Amino acid sequence: MSNPPVKHKPRVFSGVQPTNALHIGNYLGAIRRWVQEQDQKENFYCVVDMHAITIPQDPETLRRKTRELAALYIACGLDPQKCVIFVQSHVREHAECCWIFNCITPIGWLERMTQYKSKAATQESVLTGLLDYPVLMAADILLYDADEVPVGEDQKQHVELTRDIAQRFNTLFGETFVVPQPVIPQSGARIRGFDDPSKKMSKSEAVNRGHAVLLTDSPDEIRRTIKRAVTDLGREIVFNEAPEKAGVNNLLEIYELLTAQRRPEIEAHFAGKGYGALKTEVAEVVVEGLRPIRERFDELMSNPDELDRILDDGAERARAVAAPKMKEIKRKVGFIVR
Ligand code: TYM
Repeated sequence: MSNPPVKHKPRVFSGVQPTNALHIGNYLGAIRRWVQEQDQKENFYCVVDMHAITIPQDPETLRRKTRELAALYIACGLDPQKCVIFVQSHVREHAECCWIFNCITPIGWLERMTQYKSKAATQESVLTGLLDYPVLMAADILLYDADEVPVGEDQKQHVELTRDIAQRFNTLFGETFVVPQPVIPQSGARIRGFDDPSKKMSKSEAVNRGHAVLLTDSPDEIRRTIKRAVTDLGREIVFNEAPEKAGVNNLLEIYELLTAQRRPEIEAHFAGKGYGALKTEVAEVVVEGLRPIRERFDELMSNPDELDRILDDGAERARAVAAPKMKEIKRKVGFIVR
């Protein structure tokens, strides 16, 4: 009798930039779901330091943030046995592949990226790397033939561009890449700033007090930030997507994600209570939700050798996939492969 066909787990690739600190938007919109699904998938999670330098960085700070982010991945629950956790610049194929993709990607595709337009608007002199950022992201994903890319809403356009680049390469040089799917959560895909719920919570604004809760914030800092969250003049505590209700909706989504309660249950729980009570309860749920992460993070940061060993191992396992893929890409475009 022949064996049943082997069913491979879907391969997942995602990444976070080691700029500023991680906030609960990054956690609830991305990392938490990676953790929940790590047993069902073949996982590649990258600390994208090469993306970080598209905005000027202080070298020592970047090195520290890169280690901190890797530690946060693990502190959030990613298991280095089940996931390949690695630093982008440790796998040189990402840069090599990016160059080849540059040579098949029209500039117009990049100039219309909304994140490029908004980031470029804040820079006096716009660097080439900032424009090229999504092409490097395509290299990250396609080198691993990832089936799925779990990200927040703001990265959807970049994953769509990745699909365009994959399809273009496949058309020009023959079937080479899996065309990946963006996977965007229904709830938590766009956590909003506590100081201004019309905007998404962002790492660049997280330096402003009151904007974000960072994963490394103390319980008192968390309580202070959430107590000051901007809401509206109403009283009703219900899920409501209307722009003027974005502040309360944001608090309710965070509560929903961290308590895993259903929406009608949550609305019944808060019926007749005021916004003050909502903020107090959300703050406590966040404090308790982040407590184990903070504790594990402190432990990991006190043992840098162990962290470096995990990252070395991750780089090796990532290269085992990326290096043969890169050879195939070079062969397809006509390079002499050694
Ligand atoms: P980055 O570092 O800006 O954000 C990391 C992840 O967090 C999500 N996110 C949010 N989710 C919900 N609400 C928010 N307010 C919020 N802010 C951020 C982001 O969507 C992202 O999933 N370009 C990427 C990093 C990257 C990457 C990749 C991702 C590089 N290569 C390959 C996937 C695959 C970025 O800058 O994410």
